Amino acid sequence: TDTTAPLGRLPFCELHVHIEGTLEPATIFELAAAKDIRLPYADEAELAALYDFSDLQSFLDLYYANMQVLQTEDDFEALGAAYLRRAGAAGVVHAEMFVDPQAHSVRGIPESVVLAGLHRAIAAVGAETGITASIIVCVLRDQPVDSAERMLDRVLESGFAIEGIGLDSAEVGYPPSLFRSVFERARAAGLHAVAHAGEEGPASYVWEALDVLGVERVDHGNRALDDAALVARLAADRIPLTLCPLSNVRLRVIPSIAEFPLRRMLDTGILVTINSDDPAYFGGYLDDNLRALRGAFDLGGDVLGLLARNSVEASFLAPARKHALL
Ligand code: ADE
Ligand code: ZN
Repeated sequence: TDTTAPLGRLPFCELHVHIEGTLEPATIFELAAAKDIRLPYADEAELAALYDFSDLQSFLDLYYANMQVLQTEDDFEALGAAYLRRAGAAGVVHAEMFVDPQAHSVRGIPESVVLAGLHRAIAAVGAETGITASIIVCVLRDQPVDSAERMLDRVLESGFAIEGIGLDSAEVGYPPSLFRSVFERARAAGLHAVAHAGEEGPASYVWEALDVLGVERVDHGNRALDDAALVARLAADRIPLTLCPLSNVRLRVIPSIAEFPLRRMLDTGILVTINSDDPAYFGGYLDDNLRALRGAFDLGGDVLGLLARNSVEASFLAPARKHALL
């Protein structure tokens, strides 16, 4: 299989990308040099050697450490703009981008600075290329509930447009039900709701995300395949799963791309989408993920077309824009 051929003009929505996970090693060194920040690595090669992860936590430790170079509104604008230009080149016409405000407020950077920078990036690259994007603020599930409540307060007070609320960071030991009150308040404020569940955690966390948090999409959700009743529920209610193949390999959720359960997922009738998660850390952007799948499974244009249509359907775009893209 040719793994380098272009993917054609299929319009994709990217629904699972952490904007801080698009921070490339070269950018880390550029920002550190500009700000006189001393990094604990001598050069890009030494940093790159740390990208050999054993599990989710081993990745998260580096992901949070590298964020120290993101400090100003300009930094967040540059981060968002670089991602949106790269995503557009991959065939993405709309992105719903996760951001982790608590990872920045803990360093003294207010939610309003992060959101202002990202909104400037969306406006600038949108005007340049036509790509659209929105923001989903994620709750760090391994931080106290009170920290999440205050993050939501400040995000709502900031007045910046926000598409939704999500849930991420270390999963096992932090069930979705811990954050019932935060999600209730966010949904009452008109936000869409999504949550990471069933990446390293059990199928029961996916049930909780649906029944306690009221989520409309599940991020990852791989472990749902362990539970036939849950599979039936996801399929019947058209709850999308935002799958991330290269992430799953690099975080050892699956042993290799050949074991990515694409066929099993499609055969269940669940609405699945393909996404990049943290592309600067896991070996690539949306097009790289699709090429990896095509290399492993000999995907025909029919499956790629289905994945593109699923991504549009699973998005939070208005019905008229969905219709235009389908
Ligand atoms: N934060 C960034 N990427 C993540 C992932 N794959 N799972 C949980 N939290 C994350
Ligand atoms: Zn993720």
